[in-house]
Amino acid sequence: MKDICVIGVGYVGLVTAAGFSDLGNRVTALDINEERVNNLRKGILPIYEPGLEEVVRRNVLAGRLSFTTSYAEGLEKADFAFIAVGTPEGVDGEADLRYVRDAAEAIAKAMVRPLVVVNKSTVPVGTGDWVAEIIRSHLAKPLVFSVVSCPEFLREGCALSDFHNPARTVLGSMDREAADKVAQLHLPLRAPIVITDLRTAEMIKYASNAFLATKISFINEIANICEALGADVKEVASGMGYDPRIGRQFLEAGIGYGGSCFPKDVKALAHMASVQGRNPQLLQAVMDINDDRTRMLVEHAESLLGKIEKKEIGLLGLAFKSNTDDIREAPAQKVAALLQERGAIVRAYDPVAMDNAARTIPGIRMCPDPYALAEGADALVVVTDWNEFKQLDLPKVRNLMRTPNLIDGRNIYEPEEMKALGFRYRGIGRGYNGAKPAPQPAGKGRAK
Ligand code: NAD
Ligand code: UGA
Repeated sequence: MKDICVIGVGYVGLVTAAGFSDLGNRVTALDINEERVNNLRKGILPIYEPGLEEVVRRNVLAGRLSFTTSYAEGLEKADFAFIAVGTPEGVDGEADLRYVRDAAEAIAKAMVRPLVVVNKSTVPVGTGDWVAEIIRSHLAKPLVFSVVSCPEFLREGCALSDFHNPARTVLGSMDREAADKVAQLHLPLRAPIVITDLRTAEMIKYASNAFLATKISFINEIANICEALGADVKEVASGMGYDPRIGRQFLEAGIGYGGSCFPKDVKALAHMASVQGRNPQLLQAVMDINDDRTRMLVEHAESLLGKIEKKEIGLLGLAFKSNTDDIREAPAQKVAALLQERGAIVRAYDPVAMDNAARTIPGIRMCPDPYALAEGADALVVVTDWNEFKQLDLPKVRNLMRTPNLIDGRNIYEPEEMKALGFRYRGIGRGYNGAKPAPQPAGKGRAK
């Protein structure tokens, strides 16, 4: 059993704290947000993450997990301090490191014993060295410490399962002994452990997110071409995915990637490259393709509805993906804004993200369920791939709508089935979208 302080109790910090306490360690989770900490002490979680509430409750009851706003309390007995504060997008796409800097300074001032500082926040290459320098220059008394980078690869919505079953653990440090100590903490997870230097570990995180974002933009580009040529991107992705060199995951075409990570991390990596005089052409294309997705979705709506002005349009989903209440960089925000710009009256339903969305997406009416959303609507747009939407009573939905137009930004329905149910349907890259294939003109070089 080790003593761990986790700094920052958001999506990553709370899961890390809950996970390590569940493995039998004593964890103090620290946040500067007093309301967050007070609520956590009462068992109220700041985020929605399936299964997390139960794990937090269990470990609090067992005396392995506690919450504080005090660095002195958090570090009093700590062997490890995990930094898991936010690194949002700053000016020109550069990562904003102010929370990391504050945390590093506060660690230095409060630490009373040797400490391994483990950075879990996604930070630009070189930040680990910078954090070490900040701690060194703010130490209240001479104490031994090391900085280890341990980038986080969890996905929201399945974060606990990702904590317990990571594909790998990456550790980077100039101090091999410190990296080995952090490796020991992760041994119960039985995943491969890659130990490297600080900067390489920081780069592995950005390269991984950028690669996944590239896969998404790649399949979205293929979806555009499928739409033009009458092929079905879902089947294309499935046919490609059997090749183990390609793999099946992250080939779901749709409305584009959102969330608190891919958008900012691809930008931050491109920014790092530009600052070094490199031209990140591929990353730029990935971002451009992604930026275009919501506009294309709205064009699908226009092609079905004609003029959008004064039309009642319902958004099925607001969260940036299913199983989370996170609406940071959620495509729903852009879709709502584009529809409103064209004069549409926008309403929405999401199983868990409506409270968050009501604070940040102005001028949309929230509906209590998908059927209330459908009532009198001129079109529905699937924005988030919640399982709940896959199980809807679609004949009921169709009958409630004023005109049964359905734009499926996540390809959760089948064009032929939707057509048979009486919907006017548009998926993303779904070939004929349920219509009869048009005869192919004989092109140059094509046999007549
Ligand atoms: P978050 O915004 O949900 O939580 C950050 C928390 O840090 C907040 O509760 C905030 O109050 C707290 N905080 C800020 N400054 C602090 C300080 N000086 N001392 C103590 N607490 C402080 O952020 P998140 O989504 O958990 O992301 C954290 C980091 O992990 C980011 O760098 C992100 O890129 C990375 N990451 C996130 C995910 C994810 O799925 N959300 C996955 C992998 C990596
Ligand atoms: C992503 C990574 O998957 C995690 O490994 C990483 O730790 C995390 O970012 C991070 O650094 O914060 P997350 O953002 O929670 O996790 O969600 P994903 O499941 O990766 O989805 C990201 C976005 O891409 C969502 O908007 C999702 O709808 C979209 N997506 C995903 C697609 O459009 N198509 C796909 O095939 C997959």
